[in-house]
Amino acid sequence: VARILITCGPTREPLDPVRYLSNSSSGRTGLLLAEEALRRGHRVDLVLGPVGLAPPAGARVIPVVTCAEMLAACREAHPRSDAVIGAAAVCDFRPRAASTEKRRRGAPWLLELVPNPDILEDLGKRKGPRVHAGFALETESEPDAAIAHAREKLEKKRLDWVVINSPEALGGEEGFYLLLGREGPARNLGRLRKSELASALLEAVENSLKRSAPEPDKSDRV
Ligand code: CTP
Repeated sequence: VARILITCGPTREPLDPVRYLSNSSSGRTGLLLAEEALRRGHRVDLVLGPVGLAPPAGARVIPVVTCAEMLAACREAHPRSDAVIGAAAVCDFRPRAASTEKRRRGAPWLLELVPNPDILEDLGKRKGPRVHAGFALETESEPDAAIAHAREKLEKKRLDWVVINSPEALGGEEGFYLLLGREGPARNLGRLRKSELASALLEAVENSLKRSAPEPDKSDRV
């Protein structure tokens, strides 16, 4: 039994008290990963952005809104986790400063966006023996180019596994997936339902957990 930290859903980056930047992530993949991990007997810390779907019973849910909140929640949960799966569609940019008052209609509004931290990359710096997995949304039509780009992400974020998906998977029930590990060629998983993808990724994470030794320090657990 492992303790798995899963990030899920979009983040929202406030522009003013009533407006935000976000994306159309439904959170389905992350929620199915949480469900599958629980089904396999693992404990799940689910750092969950704003989604319209209910999280599975049994997960420890840490609700967050912004990338900064998601990062803080992940840093807090990471030391006691054995594995991390980054399934959240984190906003890569946020407005430089959210206005404290609602912006009135009228003159044009020029937005300045600043980059958000990469949560998986941050956690990768304190990875230890943990197993880390993430997603790469690649738009290249040439598979070799998509794989090369995903391998760069794997290295940069110190991931053990990267699921390569194409934009058609967004919001849908199924997608076309490749699974890339630290060693060996990418495995073409073909067209899968998201629940099937969740099972394939958990299988890969479990295999890596079996191989990873020594175990993370669990002395701080109660
Ligand atoms: N991710 C993250 N924090 C971010 C952005 C992404 O943890 N600020 C994680 C996602 O949860 C996902 C993976 O990184 O597992 C997705 O990376 P992706 O958005 O495909 O690539 P980027 O690293 O943003 O690179 P690029 O936009 O250049 O493709």
